[in-house]
Amino acid sequence: MIANDNLHWWQRGVVYQIYPRSFKDTTGNGVGDLQGVIEKLDYLHDLGIDALWLSPFYPSPMADFGYDVADYCDVDPLFGDLATFDRLVAEAHKRRLKIIIDWVPNHTSDQHPWFIESRSSRDNPKRDWYFWRDPAPGGGPPNNWGSFFGGPAWTYDERTGQYYLHQFCKEQPELNWRNPAVKAAMFDTLRFWMKRGVDGFRMDVIGLIIKDKDLRDNPPNPAAPPNLPANDLFSRLLQVYNMDQDDVHSVIREIRGVLDEYDDRCGIGELWGPLDRWVKYYGDASAGSAGEELHLPFNFRLMDGMTWNAQQMRAVVDSLEAALPDFAWPNYVLGNHDRTRLATRFGGEAQARVAAMLLLTLRGTPTIYYGEEIGMEDVPIPPDKIQDPQGINLGPERTRDVCRTPMQWDAGPNAGFSPAGVETWLPIAADYVTRNVAALSADPHSILTLYKRLLRLRRATPALYGGSYRPLDVEPDNVYVYLRKADAQRYLIALNFATEPRTLAIPGETGGRILLSTHLDREEAVSLDALSLRANEGVIIAL
Ligand code: GLC
Repeated sequence: MIANDNLHWWQRGVVYQIYPRSFKDTTGNGVGDLQGVIEKLDYLHDLGIDALWLSPFYPSPMADFGYDVADYCDVDPLFGDLATFDRLVAEAHKRRLKIIIDWVPNHTSDQHPWFIESRSSRDNPKRDWYFWRDPAPGGGPPNNWGSFFGGPAWTYDERTGQYYLHQFCKEQPELNWRNPAVKAAMFDTLRFWMKRGVDGFRMDVIGLIIKDKDLRDNPPNPAAPPNLPANDLFSRLLQVYNMDQDDVHSVIREIRGVLDEYDDRCGIGELWGPLDRWVKYYGDASAGSAGEELHLPFNFRLMDGMTWNAQQMRAVVDSLEAALPDFAWPNYVLGNHDRTRLATRFGGEAQARVAAMLLLTLRGTPTIYYGEEIGMEDVPIPPDKIQDPQGINLGPERTRDVCRTPMQWDAGPNAGFSPAGVETWLPIAADYVTRNVAALSADPHSILTLYKRLLRLRRATPALYGGSYRPLDVEPDNVYVYLRKADAQRYLIALNFATEPRTLAIPGETGGRILLSTHLDREEAVSLDALSLRANEGVIIAL
């Protein structure tokens, strides 16, 4: 275990994800921008987070809202320019906030100059920067891979009579990372931003950058749900040859080498997959590469496929803790721009409060998605207003727009996100008049106040940001109790997931003092042989 005083900022700190389109619009075009982030830095500082992760702001035709990058070294005019970005970094650093940016290595935009060249002729020097293949012998795409967003992962290009590969939109052609020139060019984009002061990168679908050398067909998925949309070829297959290939790891070690050219930068990867394979993205002791890959492979295990159940949550945390080698630092994510909002997923605000206490008291780096601190829920999007290509192609129930709606700042027009009279790029939640930063800041019992108090307590408490984790077996069911400990400091966290009250006997403990309840209405000495928790109440107790 790493000693508390040696922790890096990305271990000790809390990350906050901003989806720039939806944070704050200062130009009045209905879309958020970087100046808007600058204007809200004092809010973020006061909230008590340590690092911002910005989803893409690069020049982009916005086929996938910035995840289709047309230039890795600039800012889309919609969001500002490089000078605005530099000010953002300087202003953030003044407030001791780190800046993490999204880096999209797997694919570019089809409008990126590299792809424009690549598609221009079969013998263009950049042809091999992407995946170009002849049609299958009988015609049609070169293999059976499907796109995450529906349809085949290949598009035929009339001009040169070949197909190119894209596992997302057809406007997102995939880079060939086996080509050394691609690697070199992409490494330079990391250096470009590190020189500008960027502290870390969130690496988009990093497990996809290396594919099977022969691009073999994926096998059918025997567990594919019935009633899939006809064009969902992706879910009908097991993702065997298109991601998580053994030889991706040497490339990630090279990426890490580039980060290590600069001081204390952090690499976070978007990764899924079975625990035993996922954990290797930290580096692999048995392969002699302990700690030589990502600082934090994002951990989505408390989010994906989870229901609101204490035993299930504990089992996930415990299996993660057991799987992590000593050199690997845990991290937890409960929401992001691709998933249903956590308040919607787990039931509502009562559950969201307990989830906040869980996220901010587990061992490891937490990531908060913008709006979680005010309990934002999914916003229903009328079918004709759907923007997300996934929703457009695979059906309204698959749209990710629901979790990307404008931040709710106040009760004024457009929730204080855009000026009055502007149509925002996605609709604003109906409950914004009461659920907004201004109103909840003034309420000592609000979820926002809870987040602030949790973040302050965590920052001030070595046992919480750096201590050990030990779960306790406690009756009755649907409660989750654990100890966090650093030196003599010991904290007990008791979370009641049930919608009824619970009384617990904590083994081996007699009493302690409640420092914080998710209800924000009690700070008191308690006896631990009969600790009463109300429905959906979590408490942090100093022992
Ligand atoms: C990642 C992003 C998602 C994007 C996709 C393609 O999963 O989080 O928003 O659509 O990659 O870049």
